Amino acid sequence: MQGIPQPSREEVLKLPRVHISTHPVMAHKMTLLRNKNTPPPQFYQLVKEIGALLAYESTETLSLESSTIETPLQSTTGYRLAGGIGVTPILRAGLGLAEGFRQVIPDVQVWHLGLRRDEETLQAMEYYNRLPHQVDLQVVYAVDPMLATGGSAIDAINILKRRGIPRLSYLGIIAAPYGLMRLAQAHPDIDIYVAELDEALNDNGYIIPGLGDAGDRQFGTF
Ligand code: PRP
Ligand code: URA
Repeated sequence: MQGIPQPSREEVLKLPRVHISTHPVMAHKMTLLRNKNTPPPQFYQLVKEIGALLAYESTETLSLESSTIETPLQSTTGYRLAGGIGVTPILRAGLGLAEGFRQVIPDVQVWHLGLRRDEETLQAMEYYNRLPHQVDLQVVYAVDPMLATGGSAIDAINILKRRGIPRLSYLGIIAAPYGLMRLAQAHPDIDIYVAELDEALNDNGYIIPGLGDAGDRQFGTF
């Protein structure tokens, strides 16, 4: 990232369809997550909990369909989420987030997608794809903790768009202004939900202050 100009936090805060959590419980969990002394089992647990909070916040606008149900006392109108919902964990760091999402909406379809960022070129490469060809979902959420240069997220959304999904959203834990701007510009038709927006990318493409390597910290592969 050396010599590449990066936007400020203030510039990207104005972007449309970008949602940054303001919930105090999120801020509390994020502080535990960022701490370098948090060990992998607790880190993974926190990623799941943050995934559940992000799922709750990002599904606020989903459509409902109504039906009549019987309580033990009388009939009343009930609601259920309309259409199917999918979640695409971007492997491997997206796995914990997807697990948290499933705790909120258990009957999601999970579409695994493996992308690996080359640490020299910072380009994402696809190495695994279990996206079904038959699509009958109202929305798919691509989930990945770190939005750094934005390369992995942009590629993931491109791959999902080729499956013809009517509505796509991106869910992440920490975004760098540079990656957030690139994703919003490449895909202005999606909603982007993140827990926190950080300051910048360092020369190696890591988010600062960040949390380090989200995959290694979840799975203990240092
Ligand atoms: C990390 C992270 C994102 C990507 C973000 O994954 O989980 O997928 O880097 O960087 P970008 O915005 O610059 O593309 P990584 O490729 O290290 O793989 P991992 O999940 O297996 O650790
Ligand atoms: N991937 C990570 O896991 N962390 C970063 O800061 C950037 C990319």
